[in-house]
Amino acid sequence: MNIGLIGSGGREHALCKNLSESKFVDKIICFPGNAGTSSLAINVQVDILDFKKILKLIKFYKIKLVIVGPEEPLVNGIVDFLKKEKIIVFGPNRYAAKLEGSKAFMKTICKQNKIPTAKFKICNKKNQVKKFLTDCSLPIVVKADGLAAGKGVTICKTEKEVLKSTNDIFKGKFKSSKLVVLEEYLLGEEASYFVIVDNNTFKFFGSAQDHKRVFENDKGPNTGGMGAYSPAPIITKKLEKKIISKIIVPTLKALKTKNNPYNGFLYVGLMIKNNEPFLIEYNIRMGDPECQVILPRLKTDIFKIFKYATLNKLKNIKINWKKQKSMTVVLCAKGYPGAYKKNLKIQNIDKINLSEKDFIFHAGTKIVNNVLRSNGGRVLNVLSLGTNFKSIRKKIISNIKKLKLKGIFYRKDIGWKVINKKNENY
Ligand code: AMP
Ligand code: GLY
Repeated sequence: MNIGLIGSGGREHALCKNLSESKFVDKIICFPGNAGTSSLAINVQVDILDFKKILKLIKFYKIKLVIVGPEEPLVNGIVDFLKKEKIIVFGPNRYAAKLEGSKAFMKTICKQNKIPTAKFKICNKKNQVKKFLTDCSLPIVVKADGLAAGKGVTICKTEKEVLKSTNDIFKGKFKSSKLVVLEEYLLGEEASYFVIVDNNTFKFFGSAQDHKRVFENDKGPNTGGMGAYSPAPIITKKLEKKIISKIIVPTLKALKTKNNPYNGFLYVGLMIKNNEPFLIEYNIRMGDPECQVILPRLKTDIFKIFKYATLNKLKNIKINWKKQKSMTVVLCAKGYPGAYKKNLKIQNIDKINLSEKDFIFHAGTKIVNNVLRSNGGRVLNVLSLGTNFKSIRKKIISNIKKLKLKGIFYRKDIGWKVINKKNENY
């Protein structure tokens, strides 16, 4: 069977690799993919928001199943569009995608269903902001309602900052929405929990913790993610039960009640405070780089999982995982997440000997005249599997040192929270 895969990041390279290992998969067509996917699939350059063009390509390549990696096409309704054309596609519809596409929608679902989350107020006027400032102590988290490419959240320590950030959003800083969500600041440890969902059931699809800040010691501006590890040691069996019963089950029930059952990957972004889970955000897709650390731990054929999910038969498949742990360090172009250079030469990548427990997933890369070059802020994900996070990180850094790279930086402290914990065999 031919599969279509939409997206061009490290997440899509990881998905492409697992798909390519399935005996049921013939060709994989990536829209548009990256240099990494080009050795496993056919890359086709296309705007991922041009649904009509994508439909034509799906027909041309006789694609029987489409997997959507990133959020933007999902929030814009690619699933509704393709399903109308009788194409089998894995992912949530436009309504369910609002769980990520509108923070006001997500918080309203939480309120209506008593899902634990930070105290909040949805605002479109300055006097509502002023009222929240009297009801909630600082810091206050200001969030743009709509998609904002990771730039929509500001943690404000002063009233002045709150007023400035909200005013910028009211004035249209983000095209997606002028609504603001103000939130109480929650102090705790972040973790991500993933499930795969069909109309009838959901199944665990891994846990991970990532590092969003650009610099070591979790300093500097937020990024898409500088590194991650899986599983998340903070998610114990007891906590997992609470995540499922207090957050996931009521959310899926709420969407079903609204006649829009959720389908696809659901990424539950959590703050863990005194062993209690609070929902920080929902993403309607796999995380990046979380996907890159989760998929190498998957034992079950990913094509089969997608097939069962799209047939609403997930309950009939057992999803098995390796016991090994994994970690990835993201190599970025200097300047990221601000302005950065493109077209940096990446040398030696084919010359380093990777064991079967080591992987390099491409993110922003392309091949120009047979030379591998960077094509984005996040360039490569260097990853290893192993038995403890400390030795895995050591292995990753030794592999990175074998690459010949200029103009690239990376964090050497990924996993510090678990690696520095005493008396625990992480
Ligand atoms: P979001 O896009 O909602 O995931 O927010 C991005 C990041 O901001 C999160 O990963 C957290 O690190 C931080 N954050 C968001 N909401 C809160 C909150 N209510 N309290 C503390 N930190 C938050
Ligand atoms: N790594 C965070 C995300 O994928 O949203």
